[in-house]
Amino acid sequence: MSRKITASLYMTLDGRGAFPKYPGWDRPSTEANDMWREMWLNRFDDVTTVIMGRRSFLGHRRVWTEKARKPSDPQYLLDYSRWLDHVDKVCLSHRLKTPGWENSRIMKGDLSKIVAKVKREKGGNIIAEGGPRLILEFLRRGLADDFWLVVQPVVYGKGPQYWGPMKAQATLKLVSSSTMEDGELMLHYETVRGFRA
Ligand SMILES: NC(=O)c1ccc[n+]([C@@H]2O[C@H](COP(=O)([O-])OP(=O)(O)OC[C@H]3O[C@@H](n4cnc5c(N)ncnc54)[C@H](OP(=O)(O)O)[C@@H]3O)[C@@H](O)[C@H]2O)c1
Repeated sequence: MSRKITASLYMTLDGRGAFPKYPGWDRPSTEANDMWREMWLNRFDDVTTVIMGRRSFLGHRRVWTEKARKPSDPQYLLDYSRWLDHVDKVCLSHRLKTPGWENSRIMKGDLSKIVAKVKREKGGNIIAEGGPRLILEFLRRGLADDFWLVVQPVVYGKGPQYWGPMKAQATLKLVSSSTMEDGELMLHYETVRGFRA
């Protein structure tokens, strides 16, 4: 069976890949909330490869390794960090020579060819975890099978943009939607292939 590719987007209402403050954003929690569970825990079981652009990869390497965890961090953050350390990670970069993170490799070149190559490898499903520019490229080229979005209740007005010019529309089918405790929307869309507008 083909390896499914999921694009993961964490954005503001105006499509910015940012981490804004809003009421409840910093609610301390010893347990993963619904959003966390859905975005970063429930979908792990069948994912064996995570693809990131260089900037996102370096950001994740700084913040999400097990080494970066503090003793006071809740168990679910530790679980996520351990999972991310162990999973196969593809960092897309022309500049970076060594990834400096276990189970990571650097790939470069045409995104469609890279994705086709990774899909031919043995493994489970694949997540494209940002950044925004890379996700837009997945959308433009129709490379993702589905999209999970968390939309924060903020119009931010700055930061990297997920959406940008397209040669043709990308058509998606809404699979599910839900609202989180602090007003974030969680949207799951599948790519519709073969539809002509
Ligand atoms: N809100 C969120 O959840 C979220 C998620 C992720 C990121 N972010 C934020 O978004 C920002 C980074 O996003 P971004 O869109 O600017 O950058 P990005 O996609 O993370 O990284 C872009 C870089 O990836 C490399 N790249 C992309 N495609 C490539 C290819 N086909 N071959 C070789 N290299 C390729 C290039 O690196 P080289 O220059 O090395 O060639 C490019 O400069 C950060 O500020 C981060 O905090 C937010």
